[in-house]
Amino acid sequence: MRALFLYCLSLSASVWAQSSAVDAYVASESPIAKAGVLANIGPSGSKSSGAKAGVVIASPSSTNPNYLFTWTRDSSLVFKALIDQYTLGLDTTLRSEIDNFVSAETAQQQVSNPSGSVSSGGLGEPKFNIDLSAFTGAWGRPQRDGPALRSTALITYANWLIANGNASYVSSTLWPVIKLDLGYVVSFWNQTGFDLWEEVSSSSFFTTAVQHRSLREGAALATALGDTAAAQYTTQAANILCFLQSYWNPNGLYMTANTGGGRSGKDANTALASIHTFDAAAGCDAVTFQPCSDKALSSLKVYVDAFRSIYTINSGVASNAAVATGRYPEDSYMGGNPWYLTTAAVAEQLYDAIIVWKRTGNIEITSISLAFFQQFSSSVTTGVYASSTTTYSDLLAAVQTFADGFLVINAKYTPSGGGLAEQYSRSNGAPLSAADLTWSYAATLTAFGARAGVVPASWGASGLTVPSSCSTNSGGGGGVGTVSITFNEFATTVFGENIYLTGSIDALQNWSPDTALLLNTDNYPTWSITLNLPASTTFQYKFIRKFNGAVTWESDPNRQFTTPASGSSVINDSWR
Ligand code: NOJ
Ligand code: NOJ
Repeated sequence: MRALFLYCLSLSASVWAQSSAVDAYVASESPIAKAGVLANIGPSGSKSSGAKAGVVIASPSSTNPNYLFTWTRDSSLVFKALIDQYTLGLDTTLRSEIDNFVSAETAQQQVSNPSGSVSSGGLGEPKFNIDLSAFTGAWGRPQRDGPALRSTALITYANWLIANGNASYVSSTLWPVIKLDLGYVVSFWNQTGFDLWEEVSSSSFFTTAVQHRSLREGAALATALGDTAAAQYTTQAANILCFLQSYWNPNGLYMTANTGGGRSGKDANTALASIHTFDAAAGCDAVTFQPCSDKALSSLKVYVDAFRSIYTINSGVASNAAVATGRYPEDSYMGGNPWYLTTAAVAEQLYDAIIVWKRTGNIEITSISLAFFQQFSSSVTTGVYASSTTTYSDLLAAVQTFADGFLVINAKYTPSGGGLAEQYSRSNGAPLSAADLTWSYAATLTAFGARAGVVPASWGASGLTVPSSCSTNSGGGGGVGTVSITFNEFATTVFGENIYLTGSIDALQNWSPDTALLLNTDNYPTWSITLNLPASTTFQYKFIRKFNGAVTWESDPNRQFTTPASGSSVINDSWR
């Protein structure tokens, strides 16, 4: 503990300076961020002309990148932040914005789009035009976090309305919309879809976590309204909670972001999942990945550390101090840079953790979270430290300093006018990509809120346990089991040339040509392979030729297939 004490003593002057720097950033940036959010909401937001009432544009940027669309994920996260401010009494002026959002989402749900109609999967469509017409261009669809996030925002509002004597509006207007989204989650949670970064088609931790949350609070609301759908929400929530545990990497000690994608799996996905499923009443529960849980803290450290050596602007920073973070270390989108919203999310997770440690009056260190805490004191050991101990107070102060450090970095790279783009340059910190990203502003506001001790309403995470046996049998059918799939590819080849298969899921080697699967020539010129693949799973694939070390891919687009819930299938393709 002496080491920790000296560490704190030596830091105390700079800590004080840093904390007042954050205070100054909070003071200057809060009104700018709030105005930045409102400017991007139709019909009267100053930067969102053409957007229908209640429609959130992702950013006013219309070229490189064109973000002048409305994403269900961004809009729902933004409105959850506004609904929290309204329902917690922090800003009573937001009522008409919220009611506009309800109307916009009610209409948007009914818009048929390339993912389907309202009753055939259309709720998984990631983005729409800002007049609420369907976006019909190519895109990574479906994305199955949207309905869950939207229902969470609306349920928060519904619960407040019921508590404030307006249950009839909830029953007549809000509940039908919420129920469509919850029905979507029930039907599709065990099917793959694109992750929140719109790139990897597989299961994804963030998506699974927010789906779980939505069904828990949906079940409670259904019960309050006397709707018997509550039972199926609870049943599927238990199954989802089971599945959620399977993302844990017990060797790396972090939640792997995606089941596919062929990456390290270190990703802001998991910190975002933690803050957007935060429930202070659940304490440091690891099963629901609460911000102060050992698994969430360990994941956070692994994620943050992945950015220490890859961004020039992080060079020279002490190995236990805050750095700028991005979506995931392998990212190359717009050059693969730090993002304001991911760096803010790290701070927010830590502030949420502090909120709970203060409430419970202790900090528990387990073998899983030990490395996280040893960043602040190399001599600290596992155990439960009560608030009366110096270990507790020293660690609390050290984590606060660490958290503030992430906001100081965002502050450093916020331009003088306070505008927040999507990213800032990994080499010099200059703002990059979409300007005035609504989500950057909202993420900044919620991080500031957590720093100030703002606690969003509980969603029922407290006391949940993982069922002893897991079932993935939802409305969409399917299961954790595998099905036998035979791939036949008609391809004439020259001597020494071979045909291989690779694709978007682990079992197909995650698009790696090096480890692609060799087909057999038992029925040449048809090449074949039979594989056990996960049931009820959509994946993409291609065949490749290898000859003398050269790899030739089939032409675009990728081939796609959805495995059946049970049994077997044969796929017949020809080289193209
Ligand atoms: C646009 C998506 O919004 C972004 O998340 C993705 O990284 C790029 N497309 C590249 O796939
Ligand atoms: C790209 C991000 O990856 C995605 O998460 C977001 O929804 C869109 N941009 C719009 O902001």
